[in-house]
Amino acid sequence: MELAIIILAAGQGTRMKSALPKVLHPIGGRPMLAHVVSVAESLSPQDVYIVYGHGGEAVKSRFSEANLHWCLQDQQLGTGHAVMQALPGIDDDATVLVLYGDVPLTRQQTLHKLLAGLGSNAISLLTVALDDPSGYGRIVRSESGKVQRIVEQKDASEAQKAITEGNTGILVARACDLKGWLKQVGNNNAQSEYYLTDCIGMAVDEGRHVNAEICQDPYEVMGINDKQQLAAMERAHQRRQAEVLMTNGVTLIDPARIDIRGTLTAGRDVTIDVNVVFEGNVELGDNVYVGPNCVIKDARIAAGSQIKSHCVIEQAIVGESAIIGPYARLRPDAKLGKEVHVGNFVEIKKSYIDDYSKVNHLSYIGDTEIGKRVNIGAGTITCNYDGANKHKTIIGDDAFIGSDTQLVAPVTVGKGATIGAGSTITRDAPDNELTLSRSKQVSKQGWQRPQKDRKG
Ligand code: UD1
Ligand code: CA
Repeated sequence: MELAIIILAAGQGTRMKSALPKVLHPIGGRPMLAHVVSVAESLSPQDVYIVYGHGGEAVKSRFSEANLHWCLQDQQLGTGHAVMQALPGIDDDATVLVLYGDVPLTRQQTLHKLLAGLGSNAISLLTVALDDPSGYGRIVRSESGKVQRIVEQKDASEAQKAITEGNTGILVARACDLKGWLKQVGNNNAQSEYYLTDCIGMAVDEGRHVNAEICQDPYEVMGINDKQQLAAMERAHQRRQAEVLMTNGVTLIDPARIDIRGTLTAGRDVTIDVNVVFEGNVELGDNVYVGPNCVIKDARIAAGSQIKSHCVIEQAIVGESAIIGPYARLRPDAKLGKEVHVGNFVEIKKSYIDDYSKVNHLSYIGDTEIGKRVNIGAGTITCNYDGANKHKTIIGDDAFIGSDTQLVAPVTVGKGATIGAGSTITRDAPDNELTLSRSKQVSKQGWQRPQKDRKG
């Protein structure tokens, strides 16, 4: 069976009140249209057609899938007219699935069922039972329950408005049938639009049967027109992801307070505390704990590690059984070995810290290689930037860097070396020796502190 998918996305989206085209507004960190394209691609169609309107160039440039075809709909004359923009390129015997660029949370299994429901029917239609169906086209059924036609809200009688079964807009039909019906669709209705929904009545008039699948989860078929709906759909999407994680055994202290804007994979016995934001691709190994209020982006945290509260981690790799934070920042290309400790107010960028080393307090480590079992004292700064270029600091195994040290790169501290506290190290420090660069301490006898004129 040849499958063609048409995604309607020509609507203006004026109610978003934004310069960004509606279908590019993100859900879970990805444009809403990308969610629709993903579920479309998951059905392995031959071709996907996106019907776009003016200003769609910005949309087009965000998508690189090879089998996407872009069809310009010059004027938005209705959903039927929109589908017609894509039909000429589609083989008569192909099955056509119509989706919407602003309906991002439809599940693959729902669409499988809808496709399977076409069979010898004229149309397979996805409907939804709604508490408040206002705004939706209503599904008119015969006394025996057969779908007769769809009436748009604006064209509906009071009796029809009382129908609570709504049209989702998502449907499946054969290309040749759609071509035939849409040729005859007029725009003599309340909105002077060419309605795709008129095809249902036409099929029934031809004596054919329309299959309806009722979607149980309203979020699967909900469209986004404004920022309230965008936020509601974002929550629905996050809730779904939280449910998948919990089903897979992850402990979420509060499933309403986790945000995944990308993909999170987690091992066994992972615990995620409240208000954590994951972005891009994040992997958490077995027994990882992520504390409250962390932001973790494109990172890998190996088994047994603890990320304490308020850490910001981006493009970093954390080895096994490490302890990070609270208040640590791992920047791109920070790579930590096993059992490394990185404490509060420590920033690490483009550096490798080998097993069992510790940087526990108030430090900046950039463009640095640190060996095993190194202790970096509080307030250590690698001075990696001379105003023009970045330079490297190398610290050997078992070195001990005293507190408040500046390591002016390029510089190497040898294995087992000790740097005295308060040093500014500008030349290499040899293995196993004490190096320090502090001026001698003096005490002045009889020195008097200046006095203010005393009041009163
Ligand atoms: C449509 C359905 C209605 C259904 C509702 C579900 C029709 C006539 N009505 O109504 O039965 O309950 O969706 O949300 O189909 N679009 C274009 N080009 C156009 C017009 C629309 O691309 O010329 C796209 C829009 O970008 C949007 C979608 O089609 O993604 C639906 O359009 P919209 O105007 O929101 O349709 P509704 O009147 O809500
Ligand atoms: Ca709509």
